Amino acid sequence: MNKEQLRSTANAMVQKGKGILAADESSPTCGKRFESIGVESTERNRNIYRDLLFTTSGMEEYISGVILFDETLRQSTIADGTAFPQYFKNLGVIPGIKVDKGAKELASHSGEKVTEGLDGLRDRLAEYYKLGARFAKWRAVITIGDGGIPTETCIHVNAHALARYAALCQEADIVPIVEPEVLMDGTHSIDTCHEVSQRAFARVFDELSRQRVFLEGIVLKPNMIVSGIGCSEQAGVKEVADRTVEVLKATVPDEVPGCAFLSGGQTNENATAHLNMMNVEHAESLPWNLTFSYGRALQASALTSWSGKDENIPTAQEAFFQRAKFNGLASKGSYSQELESEMA
Ligand code: 13P
Repeated sequence: MNKEQLRSTANAMVQKGKGILAADESSPTCGKRFESIGVESTERNRNIYRDLLFTTSGMEEYISGVILFDETLRQSTIADGTAFPQYFKNLGVIPGIKVDKGAKELASHSGEKVTEGLDGLRDRLAEYYKLGARFAKWRAVITIGDGGIPTETCIHVNAHALARYAALCQEADIVPIVEPEVLMDGTHSIDTCHEVSQRAFARVFDELSRQRVFLEGIVLKPNMIVSGIGCSEQAGVKEVADRTVEVLKATVPDEVPGCAFLSGGQTNENATAHLNMMNVEHAESLPWNLTFSYGRALQASALTSWSGKDENIPTAQEAFFQRAKFNGLASKGSYSQELESEMA
């Protein structure tokens, strides 16, 4: 394990003013996104769409790293056939790779999931390193529901798997993004999200420490503390920001260089406003940086603008650039709602 390299990669990923683009949708998930715009999910179309995002002029001002799916790590730019990992290297953007094999039903625990993908991971990581990946992602999913969900078992097995993955990554000099996602789906209150997330994050750090993961060489990718999507009372921006910081302060050790949030189904504007508020109100009192690692909140408007048509690529790139820029500003607490209206 090269601790110096891990530390420097992790710090670069969460540097102020920049964040991570999650473009690692598996082919089935990409299929669903494409279906929503009436585009067939072929390998070529996925290549064209990812190329559109990655070749957006100036995106490297706000994007420190990009999470790729296995297929994309092996694809190339449309214009001149440069392999994507090399393309990113030339641009000063760090290429990363999703290595989990998805969240599957947890046996004997109806309604709960555990993430698979540990078998053979050591060999896959060695290959990914050779292909240029310098960080990885593993997403654990915690559902809030009736009948005692999440169970302690679900929280435990997911935390255990995250730590096993993280240790294997570091052995291969790859920075693990540790992603425990407490889902927004449901009618639960923000209090419940607060309590469950605190328990889940605490358990993750307990497992990371037991399994001797080097905390200076990870990036935490947590959910924010929000009201369930179906909850009749929706917490405001300030409450989400304050509660999220409260939970992180209670669970995340100082050595961790940064937290890069997932957007998890929040609207584009909320995802940006929440991150900005946390940095405006709390950045100075925090030991770690707070930034973004958004998928949908960075891509949704670009995807719709594109709709599979070549002539829409410039407009789609503008839409992506705008979200990247606004979130980059939010990671420094310099975003304001007025920017949205100016752009509109
Ligand atoms: P969302 O921002 O769309 O939640 O995706 C982030 C991600 O990478 C989930 O694993």
